[in-house]
Amino acid sequence: MAASPILDLDGVSAGYGETIVLEDVALALGAGESVSIIGRNGVGKSTLLATMMGHTTLHRGRIVLAGQDIAALPIHRRALAGLGYVPQEREIFPSLSLRENLEIAARPGRWTIEAVLELFPPLAARLGNMGNQLSGGEQQMLAIARALVGNPVVLLMDEPTEGLAPVIVDSLVAAMHRLRSDHGFAIVLVEQHAEIALDFSDRTIVMSRGRIVYDGPSATLKADHALLDSLIGVAA
Ligand SMILES: Nc1ncnc2c1ncn2[C@@H]1O[C@H](COP(=O)(O)OP(=O)(O)O)[C@@H](O)[C@H]1O
Ligand SMILES: [Mg+2]
Repeated sequence: MAASPILDLDGVSAGYGETIVLEDVALALGAGESVSIIGRNGVGKSTLLATMMGHTTLHRGRIVLAGQDIAALPIHRRALAGLGYVPQEREIFPSLSLRENLEIAARPGRWTIEAVLELFPPLAARLGNMGNQLSGGEQQMLAIARALVGNPVVLLMDEPTEGLAPVIVDSLVAAMHRLRSDHGFAIVLVEQHAEIALDFSDRTIVMSRGRIVYDGPSATLKADHALLDSLIGVAA
């Protein structure tokens, strides 16, 4: 990894109010690097991304983005500082059109509305549709597209394939691979399906009970299913 990481979490303990979910999490991500995060339901994957964005209570630790400590910044300032967030719930505005959902998030940069429509061609025919008239797959593409038009330096994606039909998952994952090879930004992908996660990034993090229990090559986990099972199973 590069000498100075684009995103650097150190000693992070965070949760909801007094409740601590994340315990002493450290994660350094190089510019243009991608990392996948896997782990059972409830281990804190979404809480980790939400903590980067400022949606949780930070009890301890540093969160540094491109050299700037963002731990005390409100959510919108973190977005302006370069974090793009695709939440697990997607959070498309239901009564805005697809185009309007993109326009309110757009900031100058390489990722224009035209560019995201090229990445997700099915969205082009739906620009006038309201958010609540879109299929699950279209909503997920829109959630990613909306993060992209903000022209982030780090893209955080929380289970983008969740609840989608296999054929939709395939085309979404193909688009995500094109994104990753674009090298414009670093990507943190939380992904429930281990095979998708291990294929997506050279580096994978396994979480268990609010802690990182593995941070290393995806290839090691691909080659050793017993290790993968035991790391994920630690939560049992
Ligand atoms: N908004 C919230 N308020 C209180 N507790 C929460 C909230 N969201 C998640 N939790 C709790 O935090 C823990 C981690 O949840 P989460 O980060 O969603 O896990 P994952 O994404 O790995 O499934 C769980 O025990 C969950 O019940
Ligand atoms: Mg989650």
